[in-house]
Amino acid sequence: MTVADGPVGFPADEDEDDRTRLVREGYDVLSYRYRGDDADEGGYAPWLATLKDRLPADGRVLDVGCGCGVPVARSLADAGFTVRGIDISETQIERARRLVPTALFMQADATRIAFADEVFDAVVCLYSLIHMRLEKQPKLLRHIGQWLRPGGWLLATAGSQAWTGTEENWLGGPAPMWWSQGDTADYRSWLREAGLEITEEGFVPEGDGGHALFWARKPAWA
Ligand SMILES: C[S@@+](CC[C@H](N)C(=O)[O-])C[C@H]1O[C@@H](n2cnc3c(N)ncnc32)[C@H](O)[C@@H]1O
Repeated sequence: MTVADGPVGFPADEDEDDRTRLVREGYDVLSYRYRGDDADEGGYAPWLATLKDRLPADGRVLDVGCGCGVPVARSLADAGFTVRGIDISETQIERARRLVPTALFMQADATRIAFADEVFDAVVCLYSLIHMRLEKQPKLLRHIGQWLRPGGWLLATAGSQAWTGTEENWLGGPAPMWWSQGDTADYRSWLREAGLEITEEGFVPEGDGGHALFWARKPAWA
């Protein structure tokens, strides 16, 4: 990854809102409860295999809300791809740097960062959009559409049913967590507004509910 692929803007967040702070501080505290250092690819394995097949040999990938870098950044970096990860949590980024030393990581709020146009062959956004303020999610998707090269792929999980709320002692830990998500139809229309073609849509069950899964592509002629 060259300097030219780095973020071109990241304004200091002097007035971080309470919900974003709750998410950032929550993952600082709950990072290890969410995922251990030695976690395997689990349910991500087929998605990662498909992504690797779709990437060019010198593919560049941005992982938005990369967490501790395991399994996504580690799997892609081990396969020889160039990986950049951003996450709002300092602890997640510290772990990612330790666990995936061949990738580049930056602590940043994805809704506030800017990259140059058309620098990534793929953007991965798994279980992170749903922690961002709802009104900021369509704009981030539009930015992702700009950061992708023509023909580039977005792999994302998103809300299936609209819901915003907080859970105390999430994962049995000492901190609350906050989510905000639209429903599948919202994400469908936001992806289209971002100039991305949805090529595949799925549902990933979790407890009583689940998440929408999208593969979307920037048209090769864009
Ligand atoms: C549920 S975890 C998923 C981590 C990883 N994507 C995975 O699937 O293993 C959500 C991650 O999104 C990050 N996140 C939440 N809001 C964010 C934001 N505004 N900007 C960047 N990262 C964010 C959290 O810190 C957390 O690490």
